[in-house]
Amino acid sequence: MTQDELKQAVAQAALEEVAQRLPQNAILGVGTGSTANLFIAALAPLKGRLGGAVASSEATRIRLEQLGIRVVAMNDVERLSLYVDGADEIDPGLAMIKGGGGALTREKIVAATAETFICIADASKQVETLGRFPLPIEVIPMATRQVARQLAQLGGLPRLREGFVTDNGNVILDVHGLAIPDPATLEAQVNQIVGVVANGLFARRGADVLLLGTEGGVQRFVHA
Ligand code: A5P
Repeated sequence: MTQDELKQAVAQAALEEVAQRLPQNAILGVGTGSTANLFIAALAPLKGRLGGAVASSEATRIRLEQLGIRVVAMNDVERLSLYVDGADEIDPGLAMIKGGGGALTREKIVAATAETFICIADASKQVETLGRFPLPIEVIPMATRQVARQLAQLGGLPRLREGFVTDNGNVILDVHGLAIPDPATLEAQVNQIVGVVANGLFARRGADVLLLGTEGGVQRFVHA
């Protein structure tokens, strides 16, 4: 199977899980990226049951609206029962690196509001230890140099994502060469650097459920 077919399979599995678990008229949190896009495209049959959706990026908002799904502002939502999103890497404890698409800050905000985070990923995203994928960090533009210096002190090699501006008007530093055996500690450490808006480690609030697309079918993992 191709990577796209594996992504398609997990998108479909997520749709079935959402159909079973989402209360009538509830608001659904929707992530960003190519896997999330396949999930959005599959959402049409559930449209009538949804009270609306919270989008984790402008790109996702546009896709949802094109489908005729009402997009609700995060500030108008008290609690979400489900959030469905992809990942760039996921470890056995269901901690993730996210932000390959640059939407990490809004994704973190939506994830923090959700009771259950369902991660949808193809098998290439599953790793023993996070860090092969460069860690994306959203930074206030004027602090880029200072933040990069401090990230280098943590052992990483930060590179500015050229020509990219986040939905929040900031820049992304992609940090290469980090081995991340303790993602929760590094997540907190990076957040301490002045000028960092958010980092792409989702460890303190990782996934609750992983739907993993493999050659043998979709595997379901639940956070212990
Ligand atoms: C978006 O900023 C990311 O966090 C995505 O969720 C992540 O990059 C996964 O994207 P793909 O589904 O395109 O691999």
